[in-house]
Amino acid sequence: MCPGEQARGIKVYSSQEQSPAGHPEQASLYVHWPYCLKRCSYCNFNKYIPRSVNNEVMTECLQQEIRTLLQLSHVSQISSVFFGGGTPSLAQTSTVAAVLESVSAHARLHEHAEVTLEVNPAPSGRTALRDFVSAGVNRFSVGVQSLNEFSLRVLGRDHDPQQALQTLEEARTLCPGRVSVDVMFGIPGQSVASWERELEEVLRVCDDHVSLYQLTLERGTHLYKQVEQGNVSMPADDVTASMYKSARKVLEQAGFLQYEVSNFARHNAVSTHNLGYWRAQPYIGVGPGAHGRFVPRALGLIHREARTQTLEPDFWMREVQQHGHATRRRIQLSQQGLLEEVLVMGLRLTEGISHKHWAAFSPEVNLHQVLGASADVQKLQQRGFLILDDRGLRCSWEGLALLDGILPVLLLELDTFFSTPTSADGHKEI
Ligand SMILES: C[S@@+](CC[C@H](N)C(=O)[O-])C[C@H]1O[C@@H](n2cnc3c(N)ncnc32)[C@H](O)[C@@H]1O
Ligand code: SF4
Repeated sequence: MCPGEQARGIKVYSSQEQSPAGHPEQASLYVHWPYCLKRCSYCNFNKYIPRSVNNEVMTECLQQEIRTLLQLSHVSQISSVFFGGGTPSLAQTSTVAAVLESVSAHARLHEHAEVTLEVNPAPSGRTALRDFVSAGVNRFSVGVQSLNEFSLRVLGRDHDPQQALQTLEEARTLCPGRVSVDVMFGIPGQSVASWERELEEVLRVCDDHVSLYQLTLERGTHLYKQVEQGNVSMPADDVTASMYKSARKVLEQAGFLQYEVSNFARHNAVSTHNLGYWRAQPYIGVGPGAHGRFVPRALGLIHREARTQTLEPDFWMREVQQHGHATRRRIQLSQQGLLEEVLVMGLRLTEGISHKHWAAFSPEVNLHQVLGASADVQKLQQRGFLILDDRGLRCSWEGLALLDGILPVLLLELDTFFSTPTSADGHKEI
């Protein structure tokens, strides 16, 4: 994305405005709403199916945790907000409004900041998306997952294709150009041909952003048990690889630019919030089980921390009420740990990691010094999967599909680099 580019009111920060490592005063905010109506067969996210929800206490606690974490951090400016879950479209619109008011009261929330809400197609076919827009939401991410009745049943979704289309239409009317759809492939019973037909159907109804997820079999889920018992079988790896390959081509032909492993946008309708993660910029996470990455005040502007909030909503609420926040785990990221995140996240982007971006996290050693001499990295380059040149480090079109195999090689090289002693003249003793 070009510096300073404006995409339909979505602010994309240029490198002049913000260092690639992110200013410690600026961060994005993730808000986790942990409740769902029903457990989908494949999902192991942090979600709960409650008998009732105490909306008032949840709202107060989210507001309190935002206040506390903003105070504990150096963050004075929030660049984007993402309400994820769980099913945040089940939250009351007053909760969303209250959260955004808290942000504005304790930090600067840019007028055009992207504010996304994940939306589940409503089983009743009716949602209150208009009220969410009044509360400050300006982008929707709709969990369509599939437009095939049978697939939706396998996934254990509580909506049918018609309800998904209705919700999508409502979202598009309210936020034209700012609606994303989540679609899954690799679903039991799906073939490459049926997936291609389904994707064509998605393309007829979708807006300018598509997220494609390969269904992964997660331990502890109902689907995992079904597969283990031999009642259901997952498509073979070569089939899912073909599905991904053909989806990339179909989306490209429809004018979508792939900017990340799973994300495609046309008219530059990229998600600035998610770009922040992939560019390893700081973020604050509030709500049960939320993750965050920011520099706490006490550590004096140097060390970034990885934070995880308490998972279970009732415990989370109690801890927030007692301590102002419910951070369960805090890990100070080492220089190596930070660079691992820069690699793992940055290589998901088609733009990869520029030298300037890397230098913002590693001013002393550049990408060539860390990876250039490695025989394994050179092999990946010769095979056409990886590119390390004057621009920086990135995957080729083929390489992006093999990222899970490429990353361990790079992380091992990084580890070798950090564990190799440095000689008196500053060189690594290889
Ligand atoms: C956890 S959901 C939350 C949003 C919303 N509740 C929904 O279901 O649409 C976020 C996205 O993660 C993806 N996801 C969740 N579990 C997955 C799995 N096992 N494999 C692949 N994608 C998954 C789904 O596509 C979903 O849209
Ligand atoms: S996929 Fe979404 S709706 Fe289904 S259980 Fe997971 S978080 Fe809830």
